Amino acid sequence: MTTRPYTTTDAGVPAPSDEFSLSVGPNGPLLLQDHYVIQKMAQFNRERVPERVVHAKGGGAYGVLRITEDVSQFTKAGLFQKGAETDLFLRFSTVAGELGSPDTQRDPRGFAIKFYTGEGNYDLVGNNTPIFFIRDPSKFSDFIHSQKRRADNNLRDHNMQWDFWTLSPESAHQVTFLMTDRGTPRSWRHMHGFGSHTFLWYNAAGEKYWVKYHFKTDQGVENFTDAEAGAVIAQDADYHIRDLFTAIKNGDHPSWTVNVQIMPFEAAADYRFNPFDLTKVWPHADYPEITIGKLTLTRNPENYFAEVEQAAFEPANLVPGIAASPDKMLQGRLFSYPDTHRYRIGANYLQLPVNRPKAPVHSYNKDGAMRYSNPGDPVYAPNSANGPAADPSFFAGESYQVAGEIIRSAYRKHAEDDDFVQPRALWENVLSDTDRDHLVGNIVGHASAPEVTGDMKKRVVEYWTNVHKDLGHGVAAGLGLA
Ligand code: NDP
Ligand code: HEM
Repeated sequence: MTTRPYTTTDAGVPAPSDEFSLSVGPNGPLLLQDHYVIQKMAQFNRERVPERVVHAKGGGAYGVLRITEDVSQFTKAGLFQKGAETDLFLRFSTVAGELGSPDTQRDPRGFAIKFYTGEGNYDLVGNNTPIFFIRDPSKFSDFIHSQKRRADNNLRDHNMQWDFWTLSPESAHQVTFLMTDRGTPRSWRHMHGFGSHTFLWYNAAGEKYWVKYHFKTDQGVENFTDAEAGAVIAQDADYHIRDLFTAIKNGDHPSWTVNVQIMPFEAAADYRFNPFDLTKVWPHADYPEITIGKLTLTRNPENYFAEVEQAAFEPANLVPGIAASPDKMLQGRLFSYPDTHRYRIGANYLQLPVNRPKAPVHSYNKDGAMRYSNPGDPVYAPNSANGPAADPSFFAGESYQVAGEIIRSAYRKHAEDDDFVQPRALWENVLSDTDRDHLVGNIVGHASAPEVTGDMKKRVVEYWTNVHKDLGHGVAAGLGLA
């Protein structure tokens, strides 16, 4: 008699065999009445959910946010009050590659946090860069198509990528980040995270501020060179997942210092850059970073599929004290994520343990595929049966005036808005000589792919010359166009 548990069907019925199908004699055909084997085969056919359309490859861990400073003058959000400790789940990812793609490919990295707050889930779905390639959501699917695979040969294609970027000059700031060695981070532990967008914070008195989040790695920024990242690809496609999992398993808990930049609400109107344009940062000289706490990762998931693959982040999950800004990209994302979750995971994705809030849920939504926890009566609002009723006081202070004609247009330009001014500042004032050499080399390597045409190379040189003439010269020389 063994002490091992016995195999069962998914209905808990003891299984007849782990190796033999039910057949008519040892060599005979199989029988439809072999429910156990049929269940195994059918269940296997349904093991995959669609991979994320972007950010498919990733890994994650649980942790905690601890707030050490008093920022109640800026926001009333419970998770940001001094002394608050909030459980969280953080998923890191690459953007363009598929589920099995190598971790160390050049790409931005996702930095998506789900805070399980006392007032419901707050999701901050950012990247390891403070900016993005585009500023209008109508271009997002086109941008991603240019990063993914061609229709004819199903290959990724650098000519297509440079075609999109050079025709979209607003991409220059993010492409500069991407082509530095920060495009190939050594590990997820050794990179910063950013909320990237501008968000609205409001305090208990209803006073409003614009905010940007910066999560600064306490491990220090460390990157691979292009050659090192390539060598790692050849050895271990899962290098970053392995690094994070192993560190946490060994009790080496990575942490990030949580900083914010705060802009008074009224200052946005005539700030020198459009503060809602996702291709721009707020220079520190204007708005210094303020440290408010620490984020630490402490626990690995126990089941990758259940907890990482089915994790569903959505920028629309905002809690009282925090609201969206008019950033057009953020506005687009408010729609996109819950929509894709309903397709990718199913209508009741919020009931899965990794997505389920730790705060009580009292909505009147009900039923649907795979629903297992439902509200009871009354099933409608308003009702006279003492069912849950909305309390607008939670959101007092969130509202602000907007007015204008309904149009399709670029953002109104602020005094210093220009697609190249901030990447130029990065090149001129921030990058070291070595960083600059590597930036030129990485661009040249990328644009030297055999599919990149001679005409495209000229456009690439022009694009980088707009950032800085020295950068343009370096790229031209590297591409043999000097
Ligand atoms: P600062 O000199 O005050 O800040 C420069 C910032 O760049 C710091 O946050 C620094 O932080 C970061 N940085 C350093 N090395 C690199 C690198 N190789 N790649 C990317 N970022 C790096 O200047 P400003 O605030 O006036 O910004 C100047 C330029 O710096 C911006 O145009 C932008 O390109 C870039 N930048 C600005 C940020 C901001 O929020 N203001 C944030 C990140 C970059 P750290 O070394 O810790 O990363
Ligand atoms: C994932 C859409 C811009 C960060 C996704 C997914 C979609 C999407 C559909 C897949 C989600 C899933 O299947 O679970 C969009 C659209 C954008 C946009 C329409 C612009 C209009 C951005 C920006 C950032 C970002 C600007 C960062 C600042 C992420 C991250 C993930 C993700 C980190 C992975 C989340 C996870 O780990 O599950 N995006 N995105 N996206 N996006 Fe975006």
